[in-house]
Amino acid sequence: MAVLLRGIFVGLLCAGVVHAIGQASCVAFQSSASTFPIVSKGKATNILVSPDDWPGVQRAAFDLASDIQQVTGVKPTLTNITVSSSTLSSDLRGTTSAIIIGTLGKSSLIDQIVNNTKLDVSSVQGQWESFLSKEVENPLPGIQSAYVIIGADKRGTIYSIYDHSEQFGQSPWYWWADVPTTQHSELFVTSSGCSHASPAVKYRGLFLNDEQPALQNWAMVRFTNGTGAALTGSPFNHFFYTKVFELLLRLKANYLWPAQWSSAFGVDDLQNQPLADWYGIVMGTSHEEPMMRSIPVEWNLFGVGPWDYSSNKANIYPFWVEGAERAKPYEGIFTVGMRGDGDLPLSEGQDISLLEQIVDDQRTILSTVFNETDVTTIPQMWCLYQEVEGFYDDGMRVADDITLLWTDDTWGNIRRYPLPSELNRTGGAGVYYHYDLVGPPRDYKWITSTQLPKVYEQMSLAIEREATRIWILNVGDLKPYEMSIEFFMTYGWDPTIWNADNVNSFVVSWAQREFDFTSAQASQVADLIATVTRHNSRNKPELWNATTYSLTDYREAELVLQDLQNASTVATNLYNSVSSAMKPAFFQLVQHPVQASFTLANMWIAAGINNLRASQARLSTNDYADQVESLFTQDWNLETEYHTILNGKWDHMMDQTHVMYYYWQQPMTDTMPPISRVQPQKQALPGVMRISPEGTLAAWPGDNPNQCSQGYNCPPFTMTFDSFVPFGNRYIDVGAGGPAPFTFTASSNVSWLQLSPAKGSISPSQPEQRVFVSVDWSQLPEGVAFATITFDATATGQPLLSVPVSFVANKTVVPDDFHGFVEGDGGVSIEAAHTDRNTTVDGISWVELPGYGRTVSGITPWPRGYQNYTAGSGASVEYDFFTFNTVDDAGNVTITTYMAPTLNGLGSGQPVAISLQVDDQAPQTTYFIPLAAPGMEPPIWDSFVANSIVPVINSFVAPPGAHTLTVWMVEPSVIVEKIVIDTGGVRSTYLGPPESIRV
Ligand SMILES: *[C@@H]1O[C@H](CO)[C@@H](O)[C@H](O)[C@H]1NC(C)=O
Repeated sequence: MAVLLRGIFVGLLCAGVVHAIGQASCVAFQSSASTFPIVSKGKATNILVSPDDWPGVQRAAFDLASDIQQVTGVKPTLTNITVSSSTLSSDLRGTTSAIIIGTLGKSSLIDQIVNNTKLDVSSVQGQWESFLSKEVENPLPGIQSAYVIIGADKRGTIYSIYDHSEQFGQSPWYWWADVPTTQHSELFVTSSGCSHASPAVKYRGLFLNDEQPALQNWAMVRFTNGTGAALTGSPFNHFFYTKVFELLLRLKANYLWPAQWSSAFGVDDLQNQPLADWYGIVMGTSHEEPMMRSIPVEWNLFGVGPWDYSSNKANIYPFWVEGAERAKPYEGIFTVGMRGDGDLPLSEGQDISLLEQIVDDQRTILSTVFNETDVTTIPQMWCLYQEVEGFYDDGMRVADDITLLWTDDTWGNIRRYPLPSELNRTGGAGVYYHYDLVGPPRDYKWITSTQLPKVYEQMSLAIEREATRIWILNVGDLKPYEMSIEFFMTYGWDPTIWNADNVNSFVVSWAQREFDFTSAQASQVADLIATVTRHNSRNKPELWNATTYSLTDYREAELVLQDLQNASTVATNLYNSVSSAMKPAFFQLVQHPVQASFTLANMWIAAGINNLRASQARLSTNDYADQVESLFTQDWNLETEYHTILNGKWDHMMDQTHVMYYYWQQPMTDTMPPISRVQPQKQALPGVMRISPEGTLAAWPGDNPNQCSQGYNCPPFTMTFDSFVPFGNRYIDVGAGGPAPFTFTASSNVSWLQLSPAKGSISPSQPEQRVFVSVDWSQLPEGVAFATITFDATATGQPLLSVPVSFVANKTVVPDDFHGFVEGDGGVSIEAAHTDRNTTVDGISWVELPGYGRTVSGITPWPRGYQNYTAGSGASVEYDFFTFNTVDDAGNVTITTYMAPTLNGLGSGQPVAISLQVDDQAPQTTYFIPLAAPGMEPPIWDSFVANSIVPVINSFVAPPGAHTLTVWMVEPSVIVEKIVIDTGGVRSTYLGPPESIRV
């Protein structure tokens, strides 16, 4: 039953309805009139290949036979046959059916069959990486029926082979994430087969980068005898790379930038480069490594003089000639241009004319080395990374056939897309994108922190704006980004089947394929992934600190923790439910990221509470100190578990430090966050009991600098509350001020106040009790009412301790005919997707990107073109809201629109903007990303990406009453996540207030 449940559409278990991820299905596990047997009744159909086909195809055919064996337990025979005079060699006598694999124009076997059967291959012939498969009759003398797998070119055939393997039951991640093969005793293909046209993105690849410590330490153990390559010590030899090549091909990717920081692909292992080509991988080098040579490593080893073309062309030029000669026999894309040593900008004074000279010389080298071949036919790429984009903006141009590789900001926000005037270059355009980074404002490379809805939003724009020649993804250590890497490659392979509303179904399908889960279990996994990536992308784990989330307002830290706690429970239940064979894969792909994220967040929040409790003289300080210590140990235990599963297969893969960064670069070890302890034997000076109300850092009785500005002799706390506080209550914590046990009662002088619980016992083993305060509004007239809550503590041998809290209840009432968001707790908070009206203009309307961003989702004008509008004329959304108060009672409100970080992707000539309007006041338009110098981001950008939000602040007049807020489209590709209208009481927290009550 676990069969076939891999679809975008999970259909009935009959052939032809189900789909592999991002691919049509042509596999069945029971026979029908329209199936062809692969393995049936314990017998496998032979596989035939042609000796003159590509070696990479031969190799993939071996994988197919082995995959079939792992799925069914029966190994098909794999045979080379040469079709000469149309007779089969003697060893095939008796074979009446076969699987026949080959490449058009390369496999004489396939060409012969196409000729014999008059098979129509016009749909794939000459089409880059396309393929078809189907059953044919009488393809060869003696063979009555065959299932042919035909590629238009080398990778077309290889992809078709792996496409079948995946549908048979072999995950692309069977080795890299230990996903068990799904077993079937009977295996069939549909007679009509599968086919695929050319992928949308021509080169789809990944970049192994910043590989120290995790990938490098792991590979050193796994693939070397502990020493690494002779000249560099690199562990990245062909044993490592062939694993990468195979994975890429199984993911239908084709392009690779190899690890570079302490290794040199072409030097470390002389088999690396030929094997890449043999497998069918297109090699490149990163944005800062021209002419297929590793920089800085190879230059440090073999270069003479400085890495400075203006002064040292005599040595750099021949260095590049060697790179071109070495790469000439193999399929590759040459990086052109140059950066400074160590991936730094070219130094001062090295200007556009020098860079143009460099590119000219590189092309001269290519055309010389390639024997005067037309240089425009050699694939080349110029990466517009950081300052290099500035050179482009300042007017530098390269030859039309060189692909312009646009980049993101290293935080997943593409800086610039091709403009209409840039669309017709023969070299086209591409994108260099990051899932992992070493760089400011903070490295992020420990754990998965990229949201698929965001990747979808950015890369779909790349498709629309025709940046489709090359997509290269910086994947750091490759693990633990397995699923999101596959999404990137799958999307570039065929974007037509994905949209904002079905991105999550990718995760569901993936979870079904990897874990043989039911769709209900797979949906749970999708929710877990969404939770973890939302949490880790709204603020990268490396940026967390003890007060990232508010400990006093909106129950923010608590809710964050609750979310992760729930995820932890669900993940553990699933983990416990899977077979022991499945556990390593589930651990790596789901359980570890969930538990590691939860543990780290829990530790930081516990550290924050610990620090706060200490300042409040509460005995529970010490419990939180213990919790931080044990979570710090738990963090290590999870790392160790990752390193020890499967007898240490992944030892070191989680080496990355991730706690207590003190600047952008990684700390040298994980350090426990600072914690405090209070003296547990000693009673706090004001007595046994501590009272700490929600909404304040202070505690009573006694002195505390947060009680009032003076810090001593302060009045009791005044707690305010109204009818539309989203939580419907507030709380007051009763805590121990020392070792003496006591009992307490909570009471008030009014009947409309409810306290729950109204009494309790506090002792060192039960050092806290949270008392919730709510109001029976039916007993109150509209307006303000006052009460006093009194906490009385009774302890043996001590006088009665009595602590008052003032309470102000504000009964607010909206007219019956009002529908919309109602002010509560000092403001109105609205998730952008929760619109009251949505108006389409020129076919453009605001649509939701489900799961996008920090809280619920984002909305963006769709479809996205180049068209912009003056404020008040474009597509709009409206929100009805009701206010009771205003800032300083002056009729004013402040509106903060939480925008996703979006760079000026249409260039500085058309910066992104948003326009807001309240009622019929004039719309206010904000160009919310400051312009920056060419090749730069504005200085404030670091804080935007660190917080994963751009707050746009406008002031309007909105006296008490009903109002309408309108958000107008001005520019395309802007995303609104949340809107907060401050009527005077909004407190500053990481995520802003929770959504207001909507009536
Ligand atoms: C088929 O022939 C090719 C070329 O000689 C060889 O590389 C390959 O290993 C052979 N395959 C099998 C299954 O014998």
